[in-house]
Amino acid sequence: MFTRIARRYDRMNSLMTGGRHHAWRRIAARAVIDTPPGPVLDLATGTADLALELRRTDPGRRVVGADFSEGMLREGQRKLAARGERAVTLVAADALDVPFADATFAAVTSAFLMRNLADLARGLAEMRRVTMKDGAVIALDIVQPTLAGWAPVFNLYFQRVVPAIGALVARDRQAYTYLPRSVARFLSPRALAELMAEIGFRDVRYRRVGLGSIAIHVGRV
Ligand SMILES: C[S@@+](CC[C@H](N)C(=O)[O-])C[C@H]1O[C@@H](n2cnc3c(N)ncnc32)[C@H](O)[C@@H]1O
Repeated sequence: MFTRIARRYDRMNSLMTGGRHHAWRRIAARAVIDTPPGPVLDLATGTADLALELRRTDPGRRVVGADFSEGMLREGQRKLAARGERAVTLVAADALDVPFADATFAAVTSAFLMRNLADLARGLAEMRRVTMKDGAVIALDIVQPTLAGWAPVFNLYFQRVVPAIGALVARDRQAYTYLPRSVARFLSPRALAELMAEIGFRDVRYRRVGLGSIAIHVGRV
């Protein structure tokens, strides 16, 4: 599915969020600053927007971007080349079986991955395994907002308008029908924080942004 929509993915993100998605990734990237020295893994890097944001936020870091969609990686590679970015390396990898040794990275980030994982607990355990002691796992994703007045508007927009924009712009109604469904069945931010703590993360915290429709979780290793 992601390879199918890869070429129009960035345009859809900007349209759906009114361009706000970059600001959300920037907040997630800032959480990496106080982790130990060392490289950062951006899991499910897609078209590499968070990988680039990590480099802008903390220019001394090397970043590895990993994804299992060839099409998304191709778009990401094109973007990195266009910007002359050489400190980001993209690799093909499955987040459920991360091909790196234990404690390799100072931080593992992800944006819009959690909802898509076939086995969330396993994915989180893999992220923790490859993160070094005192490092952090940072996960940004879309969640159900709870703000009175906004939640019904969000649901209407997400369930009715987004699939229509997806059909028009990405020419893929199915992918943009899957998107609101994946949000509807995803954990609440609190339940995700509890799962992270169960898996062994320390000091798990999260904040909501985007009128409560985006959650950014941080857990220490
Ligand atoms: C919604 S996109 C997010 C891309 C990017 N992180 C961003 O901020 O725009 C979700 C990405 O997760 C990737 N993905 C989903 N499940 C994965 C898995 N098990 N292993 C690796 N990548 C995965 C998809 O290929 C896709 O590129």
